[in-house]
Amino acid sequence: MVSKAYNNPEYYEIALSSLRNVKKEVDFLDKAAKKYSKVKVYSMMEIGCGNSPYVEEISKKGYQFVGLDLNKRMLDFSKTKAKKKEVDIKTAYANMLNFKLKEKVDFCFVLFGSIYRKNHEEFLQHLKCVSNSLKKGGLYVLHMVIEGDVNEIEGKFIDYSKRGNIKVKVEYEKRVIDISRQLLQENLTLFVNDNGKKIKLFEPNIYNFILPQEFKLMIKQSDFEFLDWFDGFNINKKFDGLRKCEYVVCILRKK
Ligand SMILES: C[S@@+](CC[C@H](N)C(=O)[O-])C[C@H]1O[C@@H](n2cnc3c(N)ncnc32)[C@H](O)[C@@H]1O
Repeated sequence: MVSKAYNNPEYYEIALSSLRNVKKEVDFLDKAAKKYSKVKVYSMMEIGCGNSPYVEEISKKGYQFVGLDLNKRMLDFSKTKAKKKEVDIKTAYANMLNFKLKEKVDFCFVLFGSIYRKNHEEFLQHLKCVSNSLKKGGLYVLHMVIEGDVNEIEGKFIDYSKRGNIKVKVEYEKRVIDISRQLLQENLTLFVNDNGKKIKLFEPNIYNFILPQEFKLMIKQSDFEFLDWFDGFNINKKFDGLRKCEYVVCILRKK
């Protein structure tokens, strides 16, 4: 039987490690907080945090990390990892489409487009939940949620990562399965070699893709104001919505 990739956080962490530049990405979040937030930022919440790859760097900058996820294994993994690094974190076991935190956070972010929605209604529902759990004037940073290049909506890549004696081959593919409902099928497959033991992990998902101009219209219907968007985690390189870019990083602020 093939297991799910998200139920195996230790392998998922290794698999995605080569695709990140944690320092650069957290620097971006820090700069955004300082430049655009209307509230003083003490806490940063990652939506769909998974293995919480940014915990240590966020804590180094002096912020309290909060991780929200619907997978207990991912949350337990994040807590154990943070404990080893002597970092204090908070977690929320919740569905990102239907949640309200008891204590509001100052800043939210989501990585790798991890908003699990099947249509625009669900996206708006998600924004409502984030808004209910975020202080007024606080930011929501979205990475890879908006398509920046029509040629990148579909695609496939293969990558290789290694940690100690564990090697992981990553295969990722996404293709349009329903153009009228803007639905994409994505498949993440991890081929793990753990000290000679071979394990295959699979994570399929169907989600709806969002184009730049409809994103702006949807934001007008939400509790957020659109502030700006960028070509990657580079606060000096703006995305203008016209020229293609590899991936969009967008900053919203709660009104
Ligand atoms: C692609 S992983 C992203 C993990 C991490 N943010 C990263 O940068 O690698 C997506 C995560 O979202 C979580 N997730 C999926 N659907 C969710 C939902 N409806 N509510 C909360 N978390 C969800 C999964 O359990 C998984 O840990």
